[in-house]
Amino acid sequence: MAGGFVSQTPGVRNYNYKLTPKVFVTCFIGAFGGLIFGYDLGISGGVTSMEPFLEEFFPDVYKKMKNAHENEYCRFDSELLTLFTSSLYVAALVSSLFASTVTRVFGRKWSMFIGGFTFFIGSAFNGFAQNIAMLLIGRILLGFGVGFANQSVPVYLSEMAPPNLRGAFNNGFQVAIIFGIVVATIINYFTAQLKGNIGWRISLGLACVPAVMIMIGALVLPDTPNSLIERGYTEEAKKMLQSIRGTDEVDEEFQDLIDASEESKQVKHPWKNILLPRYRPQLIMTCFIPFFQQLTGINVITFYAPVLFQTLGFGSKASLLSAMVTGIIELLCTFVSVFTVDRFGRRVLFIQGGIQMLISQIAIGIMIGVKFGVAGTGNIGKSDANLVVALICIYVAGFAWSWGPLGWLVPSEISPLEIRSAAQAINVAVNMFFTFLVAQLFLTMLCHMKFGLFFFFAFFVFIMTIFMYLMLPETKNVPIEEMNRVWKAHWFWGRFIPDEAVNMGAAEMQQKSV
Ligand code: BGC
Repeated sequence: MAGGFVSQTPGVRNYNYKLTPKVFVTCFIGAFGGLIFGYDLGISGGVTSMEPFLEEFFPDVYKKMKNAHENEYCRFDSELLTLFTSSLYVAALVSSLFASTVTRVFGRKWSMFIGGFTFFIGSAFNGFAQNIAMLLIGRILLGFGVGFANQSVPVYLSEMAPPNLRGAFNNGFQVAIIFGIVVATIINYFTAQLKGNIGWRISLGLACVPAVMIMIGALVLPDTPNSLIERGYTEEAKKMLQSIRGTDEVDEEFQDLIDASEESKQVKHPWKNILLPRYRPQLIMTCFIPFFQQLTGINVITFYAPVLFQTLGFGSKASLLSAMVTGIIELLCTFVSVFTVDRFGRRVLFIQGGIQMLISQIAIGIMIGVKFGVAGTGNIGKSDANLVVALICIYVAGFAWSWGPLGWLVPSEISPLEIRSAAQAINVAVNMFFTFLVAQLFLTMLCHMKFGLFFFFAFFVFIMTIFMYLMLPETKNVPIEEMNRVWKAHWFWGRFIPDEAVNMGAAEMQQKSV
């Protein structure tokens, strides 16, 4: 048992608690939820660049890839191929909306379990796929799993974590996502060398491993005190709170959870209520954060790094290897966020990461523009190609400690209990919608916008960095059921929050506000 902590943020209540092994282990297992999403993100790009896979299901793309070398920007452009990648995100979008009800009514852990289970079935469909229909059905089931897991896991982690370490614990979700990506890329690297259809079957079928991990995890995990209270298990909730906080003196935090639950009972329709003016900051943020996260352009790298590296003239094996390197860099750099997010806060990371991504994207656009020109027919030398890879790594590092983890953390911690599940569902749905759009349009956009595509994403990174600077109040160390005070104290959002929503400390917070 590590030492005790007392929350220091002015204007919000101080809870007394210890960092217990129980909360640590619970959040560690809970974070497994990110593995299924990550595994899929990492596996798709590699599989869609495997020749036997293309030959089997997308013969036209295969032929085009083999023959068309005249325009590097358009080599892989195929609507059907991108539909394979992006169908999952549409399914995840829809299922996250259902997941919000399961998460609220039955508890967070059952949403995680359903997520693991549907993902498991999807992996079987994909691993044994005989035709394109099986492939697509499999992807849709995987998508259902991702929707449920992404809706419930970040909320679970944020509710379980002690307030002063909520950022670090919640970032475990992103660490698991990236870990899943890296493992998938490594698996692809080896399976791509196998002859015939066995390679892609192993890659797609192994998705069952993280699925089983999250299913077992969900079965052994306790539910959060917030959810237990919300569902009427008040006694159990208090015991749970005492055991995860490592002290019997949890009265203050417990009372805040009870108050939050009382308030949430007045709200019969979370979906309607989230539209009320008093929830405007949460509504805007849960729409804009995932929108911006995807408009960083990160998934161009996640999905298409092997394709992008091939466009830069790397061989197929070297491309998969480079994708592996960017994944490992992303994983390591996510820990920068884990260790700093509760100390320096969310705003510093968003702004620093944004500036780093902006500069590197502009540099990548210029390099590719100079080398391939508008016609896309040039050639890039080895040292220049390496420089582009280095710039991509700098960009990925910036994302890894800012928009990556914080894109999941902040939406999960800013909403009061009564709208939390609905808000998180909106977060996932918007995230999946734009993931879908980027996945679906990237190859066509690359074909038409050429190197300008990097400037397109850089433009959005510029806008989002300014947006966060102006609109995001600092939420580090603030207990989750006390978040209203933070919004009330913000120079812009304060006007939407009625005084009754905040019963103490608002004036104090005002002085500290952004
Ligand atoms: C994003 C994904 C992205 C992943 C890895 C996540 O936070 O939501 O879209 O692929 O990070 O970079």
